[in-house]
Amino acid sequence: MIGRAAGVSPRTPSGLAEYGAAVAGCTRCRLAEGRTQVVFGSGDPDADLMFVGEAPGFHEDRLGAPFVGMAGKLLERLLEGIGLTREAVYIANVLKCRPPGNRDPQPDEIEACEGHLWRQIELIRPRVVATLGNFATKLLSGRPQGITRVHGREQETTLGGHTVLLYPLYHPAAALYTPAMLNVLQSDFGRIPELLGRSLVPAPPPEPLLAQLDAAPGVAEPVAQLGLF
Ligand code: URA
Repeated sequence: MIGRAAGVSPRTPSGLAEYGAAVAGCTRCRLAEGRTQVVFGSGDPDADLMFVGEAPGFHEDRLGAPFVGMAGKLLERLLEGIGLTREAVYIANVLKCRPPGNRDPQPDEIEACEGHLWRQIELIRPRVVATLGNFATKLLSGRPQGITRVHGREQETTLGGHTVLLYPLYHPAAALYTPAMLNVLQSDFGRIPELLGRSLVPAPPPEPLLAQLDAAPGVAEPVAQLGLF
């Protein structure tokens, strides 16, 4: 856990583990037939920072953990760059089972699986949810804008019943295939510590104009697969 605010009640990691155990037998969609195992997610069940990728690939399907292939190695390097490890965050995917041949997730598979992701977010209660690539970004933002337009632009939203900062990022696999993109991804990653420190308490209603005029002037707070773009 990274700097959780005092007074916030402890969450229920056992709830997450229990839910993971229940999902291990999931047959909500056709992907159950071809998988080796469900890849539920891994990391700190009490994490302030959660990543959501697309779907397990070959290695993830074999090992039962998300982001354990090449893209995962890059994700770990990016985390190291901001002083974090994969154990300090939580990592999950939109789909919990590997699509055959690593093809794109189908709309009905996303629909069948999304309840698992909502429940994970509800149980983990992260402060920042970083979406990796198009599929996670579109699902969690509820908007059609692709990652090229929205990467690096955080937005406060309600997920799993509580306020989070949604932070869209390029998928690490995109940087593997397009090295120039690594700079963008690194620079977007560089803002994560600041986002984790940002207060998510809803702003109080504006004060009456007279009270504002009386107050001292202050500084306003700035406020292809891959299918990845
Ligand atoms: N590995 C994952 O677990 N998810 C992805 O989206 C890509 C690789």
